[in-house]
Amino acid sequence: MSATIIDGKAFAAKVRAQVAGHVARLKEDHGVTPGLAVVLVGEDPASQVYVRSKGKQTVEAGMASFEHRLDADTSEADLLALIDTLNNDPAVHGILVQLPLPGHMNSDLVINAIDPAKDVDGFHISNVGLLGTGQKSMVPCTPLGCLMMLREHHGHLSGMNAVVVGRSNIVGKPMAQLLLGDSCTVTIAHSRTRDLAAVCRGADILVAAVGRPEMIPGDWVKPGATVIDVGINRIQHPENPEKTRLVGDVDFVSAVEVAGAITPVPGGVGPMTIACLLANTLTACSRANGLQEPEGLTA
Ligand code: GUN
Repeated sequence: MSATIIDGKAFAAKVRAQVAGHVARLKEDHGVTPGLAVVLVGEDPASQVYVRSKGKQTVEAGMASFEHRLDADTSEADLLALIDTLNNDPAVHGILVQLPLPGHMNSDLVINAIDPAKDVDGFHISNVGLLGTGQKSMVPCTPLGCLMMLREHHGHLSGMNAVVVGRSNIVGKPMAQLLLGDSCTVTIAHSRTRDLAAVCRGADILVAAVGRPEMIPGDWVKPGATVIDVGINRIQHPENPEKTRLVGDVDFVSAVEVAGAITPVPGGVGPMTIACLLANTLTACSRANGLQEPEGLTA
């Protein structure tokens, strides 16, 4: 039997509409416009696409978008000076520095220079610590999007066995913390895990975030499990070597026959990431103004 397809594109549109509704009320009732500043250093083509898309969706949600494009050879000191300016700008509620940064910059130093209250990526060490100790924090966008989809599909996740494949700071580790926060029994698996197939087969919830095209086959999926595929990998098209196509970390064709529910690539987790960035900006703005946080848009 074929799995239910979790439509991230439709869900993201719903989240964006919710955010836009809250933004309109913030403006009308409190005269406050949430503002998101995105900083791009250099000309990485994939980053340019993401940044353009973020700016467009920010404006569509009724928020103010501030874009700062810096040359690839900008000094770290100049980037830190810009972050300091944005930290002190009351019109800016969220700051995102697009990664990866050029090699001459220390990403940890740069990220930790952002005011944690404006850290809409949730990468600042303070937010990582707050999330890890179950306190109110800013939550990384991609794992937050995955959690929202899981909650929407299951209602509650308590007691479920969750396996997160991948241990990155951006997805794997915060995803595990969020699942733990929702009372799952959580395993983090990675490239050194012994018998990864058996570990995956124990998962009621399987989150794949390794960045390796189609590495998880259907026979690693427990029948009826929910599969969240975070991977976005561009590979050569099997029938036309001049073309490429996007695939996830899960072999969709075989997994869809075994899983109970699965996110497709594209159209699954991807659209949720920017929707959650908008949600985080709204949350940061609400907190900065001492207003009630929007329900259902935070962890
Ligand atoms: N580069 C790829 N993904 C991300 C993300 O979620 N945030 C930032 N800042 N950079 C990224």
